[in-house]
Parts: sequence; C-alpha cells; structure tokens
Amino acid sequence: MPVSLNTLEIIIRKAGEIALNQFNDLQNLQITQKNPRDFVTAADVAVEKFLKQSLAQKYPEYGFWGEESGQSENQAQRWIVDPIDGTHSFAKGQYFWSISVALEIDNELIFGAVYAPALNDYYCAKKGQGAFKNSKKINVSNETDLGNSMIATGFACLRSYLEENNLERFCRIAQKTTGQRRFGSAAMDLCLVADGQVDAFWEQELNLYDVAAGALIVLEAGGTVTDFKGNKGVFPKQILASNGTILEELLQLM
Ligand code: IPD
Ligand code: CA
Ligand code: CA
Ligand code: CA
Repeated sequence: MPVSLNTLEIIIRKAGEIALNQFNDLQNLQITQKNPRDFVTAADVAVEKFLKQSLAQKYPEYGFWGEESGQSENQAQRWIVDPIDGTHSFAKGQYFWSISVALEIDNELIFGAVYAPALNDYYCAKKGQGAFKNSKKINVSNETDLGNSMIATGFACLRSYLEENNLERFCRIAQKTTGQRRFGSAAMDLCLVADGQVDAFWEQELNLYDVAAGALIVLEAGGTVTDFKGNKGVFPKQILASNGTILEELLQLM
C-alpha cells in the first residue's frame, strides 16, 4: 500500500503522546545503561514497540529496523526508526528530542518524519515532494558567508570516539563562524538545517536510524547531504548537511 502522509502523522503523533506522558513524569522514569554513557529509558522501548506494531498493522509489506529492537526480516523495504533521538536530553527534562521514522525501499529514502513532541514540531518529507514543518513548506537558508553562519554538531557519547576527535574540528570551524550550537538530537539538527535555523550540521559515528529521516528532509528542503569529503549520500559515520552555499568552504575545514 502506498504510504499516506496523514496516516503516518497520526501514528507518529500518537507515539509522541506515549513519550510525552513519560516526559511529564520524569521522577518515575526507568533509566538503564546499554553501555557506559549510553542511556535507554522505558520511553524509548515503549515508543519503539508502539511504532513497530502500528506500522506493521498498516503496512505489513515493510520490514522494520529500530535502535532498541534491531532488525526484522525484509530489510530491502523497511522502516528505520529511532524511537527517541536525544535520550539523554529527554531524561534530563530538556525539550530537544525527537522521534525519527524513515521508509527506505531498495536503498532509497522515500519518506522521513521527525517529530519533536515537547516542541510540538512535526517535520516530514516525501521523496520529490518537498519538506514540511507543521504542514508549511520549508527551505534551507540562503546564507552564503561562512563567517555569518550558525553551525551545529554533536559529540558521540563513547569516549573512544571523542578521542578520535571532533573537538579539534569543532574549534577550527567555531573560529570561522558566528554561531555554534549542540542541540543533542541529530535528527533535530538535520531538521534545523532543513528549516534554515542552522546553516550546517555535521557529526561522526552515528547510525542510519539517527539520520535517515532528517537527511531526506534536508535534501527535500534544497540542502546537501555528504560525507566529510563532499561525496553525496547519507553516511552516518561521517555526515555533513548544509544549505549548499557554504558547503565548499566548510569542506576545507572538515
Ligand atoms: C544520540 C543523539 C545525539 C548524538 C549521539 C546519538 P540517541 O542519539 O543523536 O545528538 O550526539 O551520538 O547517539 O542515543 O539519543 O538516540
Ligand atoms: Ca541511544
Ligand atoms: Ca539517536
Ligand atoms: Ca535513540
């Protein structure tokens, strides 16, 4: 069955209600660690369970890959889900966290939605049909001067990755730009690029479920998605999203 944007929005907003109920009762939130410095909460698990069931019920032909439950059969046509992107922010009561849902068919991203329940912002895109925030069309910024730009990045939570090291890259780029932000949800970071609130975002050592939906939203908003060398495509281990006009200058600094 072809995916319906309305049906998906209803499902994803319901998933948002499940997350918000737990967000509004943080004292009782169950938090465990998958690895040192890598949290998972009962909300991550509950949201993923709901999405997996609801999507399978509406669209039984597609497989599923979620951060918390792993991969089902049929990975050639699959939903790619991060139930809560920004778990640490969520558990701290901050507002920048999101639910990320993408549909990929034969290695091509067809649909992406990123919903930030605490902000009530719903971003989505369907291949070839543009990108939207709360039903209004969005576009990347038209900033051409890296010096005036606002950039965002993230730092992987595992110490070995930090040593690798995005800090030096961050310092290099921070010296050449006006604004720097670290929002704590890669899916949201990508949507902020798509919406022109941020001119570029990069991060390393992510997974496809962190970036699949957001990357399609950036592309449909007229932006670029590359690796740190400028190769086009969605490379979660090295993702750079930009408005396009500052890309060349930024690549020199990566
Ligand atoms: C994390 C967020 C964060 C990024 C981390 C990710 P999670 O995802 O996207 O912004 O810096 O590297 O792991 O674990 O909260 O879904
Ligand atoms: Ca996680
Ligand atoms: Ca994530
Ligand atoms: Ca997550």
